[in-house]
Amino acid sequence: MNNFNFCNPVNIVFGKNTISQLANLIPSDTKVMLCYGGGSIRKNGVYDQVISALSGKEHIEFSGIEPNPLFETCMQAVDIIKEENIGFLLGVGGGSVIDAVKFIAAASKCEGSAPWEILVNHGTNVSEAMPFGCVLTMPATGTEMNANSVISRKSSDEKLAFASSAVYPTFSILDPETTYSIPKNQLRNGIVDAFVHVVEQYITYDIETPLQDRQAEAILNTLVELADRVLAQNKDYNALAGYMWCTTQALNGTIACGAVGDWSTHMIGHELTAFWGLAHAESLAVVLPGVWKHQFENKKEKLAKFGERVWNLNHDTNDENAVLAIERTVEFFHSVGMPTSLADYNICKDDIAKVSDRFKQRNTIVGEHQNIGHKEVGEILTLCL
Ligand code: NZQ
Ligand code: ZN
Repeated sequence: MNNFNFCNPVNIVFGKNTISQLANLIPSDTKVMLCYGGGSIRKNGVYDQVISALSGKEHIEFSGIEPNPLFETCMQAVDIIKEENIGFLLGVGGGSVIDAVKFIAAASKCEGSAPWEILVNHGTNVSEAMPFGCVLTMPATGTEMNANSVISRKSSDEKLAFASSAVYPTFSILDPETTYSIPKNQLRNGIVDAFVHVVEQYITYDIETPLQDRQAEAILNTLVELADRVLAQNKDYNALAGYMWCTTQALNGTIACGAVGDWSTHMIGHELTAFWGLAHAESLAVVLPGVWKHQFENKKEKLAKFGERVWNLNHDTNDENAVLAIERTVEFFHSVGMPTSLADYNICKDDIAKVSDRFKQRNTIVGEHQNIGHKEVGEILTLCL
């Protein structure tokens, strides 16, 4: 096991009717900016609950944060914050709203350098951010309990991530009842995103992280067990509560402790979103099987373990279990309604160079062995056709 530091300061407030606790969670005597997306919270009653909890607190609203939030939109919020003397941000929505709030929080304190540099430098230049809290309405990304944010820029078709301990939320409210209104395709996206978060921290090579492996397997097994109940959309509170907690645990740093991660599927997937607009999880479901096939020799011990412990495989050899583990994962994605090939999005062989060229321009190397550069990205995507 590798050495690690683990500090996760996010106050999680979980359960029914917890939005009413906002008034106690937000610092007093500060002007709040309520940030949200395209209006789902106005339809499902979450907005009313938030406004009622904020009564008596001075606040303004910033809405219209889009899925795959845009740098351009975030910068409008930064301008308003400066004009209005805002002291606290409240993000109410899914990963996109919360990621946008994280970026806005950092960009508002960014003196001297251009805010886009936060993303180009992946957050290494962020030393402070405005305080903010979250009300999560979409279980998927884990952003409510981590220090990451992913922002897109329309003008250059880019999607970049940054991380900084300055952008941990002060608190995150997770009320599973807010998820009753989520459309089926977004539930599917959340299941797949959380699943891929776990396997990108687990299926690398074995350095003896026995507890972290079992924690990863527990999240994967729970996601698989709950998927049908979650997708049934019948206000099954306990299934949605279990699911919501899985998605948070999948990317709150716990299973990464002392382990070796591989974020190549995410890094390649972000380019599919940037160029062709695939939803984040759609991009992952296409790329993951290609990464596993391409990196089979490097990953097969962990793939076999995953096959045994999640898909209950017990063939004679690791190779057989590893091959079947990839197949079972693809079958699982299909079973939740998720496509797994580039052809499903009309992306063809000739398009692949666009992605590999971007890795070349940025000199990006990924993979747990730092062995996936632009050439390998092209080979991986060819396996995803
Ligand atoms: O805009 P609104 O009206 O809020 O509607 C949203 C949006 O259209 C809707 N929605 C959210 N909660 C709902 C709801 N509809 C009905 N009922 C509810 N309760 O769902 C749509 C998608 O929302 P979005 O926030 O975009 O989804 P998600 O949570 O999957 O976030 C995706 C973003 O997070 C990034 C992705 O790259 C993408 O930009 N990620 C962030 C990560 C992080 N910060 O750690 C990790 C992930 O790997 C991921 O990259
Ligand atoms: Zn993800």
